[in-house]
Amino acid sequence: MAFENLIIEDKGRIRYITINRESKLNALNKTTLAELHDAFTQAFRDKAVGGIIITGAGPKAFVAGADIAEFASLDAEGGTALSRNGHTKVFDVIANGSKPVIAAVNGFALGGGLELAMACHIRIASDNAKMGLPEVTLGLIPGYGGTQRLTALVGKGKALEIIMTADMVTAADAYQYGLVNHVVTQGELLPKAEEMMTKILSRAPLSIAAAIKTVNAASDPSTNGFEVEITEFGKCFDTADMKEGVTAFLEKRKADFKGE
Ligand code: COA
Repeated sequence: MAFENLIIEDKGRIRYITINRESKLNALNKTTLAELHDAFTQAFRDKAVGGIIITGAGPKAFVAGADIAEFASLDAEGGTALSRNGHTKVFDVIANGSKPVIAAVNGFALGGGLELAMACHIRIASDNAKMGLPEVTLGLIPGYGGTQRLTALVGKGKALEIIMTADMVTAADAYQYGLVNHVVTQGELLPKAEEMMTKILSRAPLSIAAAIKTVNAASDPSTNGFEVEITEFGKCFDTADMKEGVTAFLEKRKADFKGE
């Protein structure tokens, strides 16, 4: 499928999704959000894809936010629909995906851009990256999961500081707060993301899916995460990969997982 604002490339079992709207600092307009829905749905379905790395085109921005130009004509009903649609069609799809998603944050990640990075399972930032949720400067609040995911990542006090001051956070500070997993130079960004993804892809795929589901349950107040863990742990015992993993260990060889 050809996209207007996304570049899709496969490197082995890694699918790269690059948001390609550089002249607008990769801001998420309606078209880009719809394309992200399609691209992630496809990537999660495609058996040849093991994991996804998402980044922004150009040296300046990952994503500088939702497209502010599209806000001007909305009322409360339109704003609610915009937010709900984003949650269900894009941000929750990524967060709840069965394959690992790494955000390679290569510059500004603001508003919806930081929310996109936070919906991913892991964030690696380049040292020039600047992150923030500046919605209160526009008379808004974050609407694509930012209030919830930032709080889960950095804690309530720091989340409120970042949201209420609208200050941009440097990559070094983001690392210190636990907002990003690693900080590297721009040149090392994609190699680092690939190195980590390659390691994750060498592990049992169904275990990775279960790990995502179980860890996500920790920040879902409607589920008992411990119960989810017990169920998912039990299900592993019926997989061919669990038998292969245990046998390979006992035979002192490397496991060859099939995702079955
Ligand atoms: N929505 C729509 N357009 C955006 C955008 C956004 N979130 N962020 C940047 N752009 C556009 C600018 O309007 C400009 O377009 P133009 O060349 O047609 O005028 C282009 O991208 C380049 O941005 P510019 O502001 O000129 O770059 P800069 O280097 O001076 O500043 C930022 C960079 C990121 C500090 C600044 O663009 C900014 O504050 N963006 C908005 C961030 C934001 O509030 N995001 C949250 C939205 S909820």
